[in-house]
Amino acid sequence: MSVIFSGVQPSGTITLGNYLGAIRRFVPLQEEHQCFYCIVNQHAITVPQDPAILRQNTRNLAALYLAAGIDPAKATLFVQSEVPEHALLGWVMTSISYVGELERMTQYKDKIAGRGESIPAGLLTYPPLMAADILLYQADYVPVGDDQKQHIELTRNLAERFNNRFGEVFTIPDIHAAQVGARIMSLQEPTKKMSKSDPNQNATIFVLDEPDQIIKKMKRATTDSDTQIRFDKENKPGISNLISILSICTGKNVAKIEAEYEGKGYGQFKQDVGEAVVELLRPLQEKYHEYIQSNYIDEVLDAGAIKAHEVAAKTMQRVNEVMGLARK
Ligand code: TYM
Repeated sequence: MSVIFSGVQPSGTITLGNYLGAIRRFVPLQEEHQCFYCIVNQHAITVPQDPAILRQNTRNLAALYLAAGIDPAKATLFVQSEVPEHALLGWVMTSISYVGELERMTQYKDKIAGRGESIPAGLLTYPPLMAADILLYQADYVPVGDDQKQHIELTRNLAERFNNRFGEVFTIPDIHAAQVGARIMSLQEPTKKMSKSDPNQNATIFVLDEPDQIIKKMKRATTDSDTQIRFDKENKPGISNLISILSICTGKNVAKIEAEYEGKGYGQFKQDVGEAVVELLRPLQEKYHEYIQSNYIDEVLDAGAIKAHEVAAKTMQRVNEVMGLARK
């Protein structure tokens, strides 16, 4: 049995990308491993958040995790800010990080673009906090989408650096990469990843979108002037993205989809992808509406914080001892 850790930011409704690249994959892992799934609200505050909305988004995300099939009897579901060791180890990880390596993070460079002088320092120290999340639980694997690869690499480097200086405290984690769906692309600019914060509403499918919205967005998806439904990321990024989505939703492989749509037009194909997404999300949406009304969310998160804290506190104690932060 391995230890698995992953987290999702409660910064708005999660997207089809978050669901396919991450949350959906968390569910089968809980059957065989010790899983910790976190709502990383302290990561969300690295950019300004309205307090009431952040609180609501945290509940919404908890309801979505449960609706997706995370079972609190099997996996520990909790909120980052309710386990203080995340911030404590985050500071330690920040202290052993080099500014140069943090400045090289692609996500940092993307997020600071256009912010002028007002770059929150938390955007720079975000990856050491993420490393702390993972290392506190001695995770072996971290299931994430492609965009988090560089952060996992940094986590490995920081863990190795710490172990070299202070002794073997941390397990070195590995990325648990998706076979398909590791990078769902924007529907409008299919060379960019699908993102929560895309200003173009048609670029992103949110998991709580209504069926007709989903179909509409799919129909407006950017494709190309060719007519062939063929997987070719380089020359046909839009169609390739839709094929990947259809493949995940239906379980059919790419070759089968290409064969089924040979000689057929983009119109029908896009309609079918839209309908497949609607069907994939239907049970998730139904269960979400049940959970969001209930007090069950609080019960789960209260118990999750206690369980997570027990594990995190042990790691933090060792860190304090080996670093000389503990007085006795
Ligand atoms: P976040 O909240 O941006 O995204 C949550 C998860 O969704 C994946 N993802 C995607 N996968 C496929 N296609 C896409 N278009 C797409 N967009 C997002 C992300 O890779 C991620 O797995 N830094 C993390 C949160 C975090 C974390 C952690 C993750 C904080 N601490 C510790 C793992 C372990 C983030 O911002 O994810």
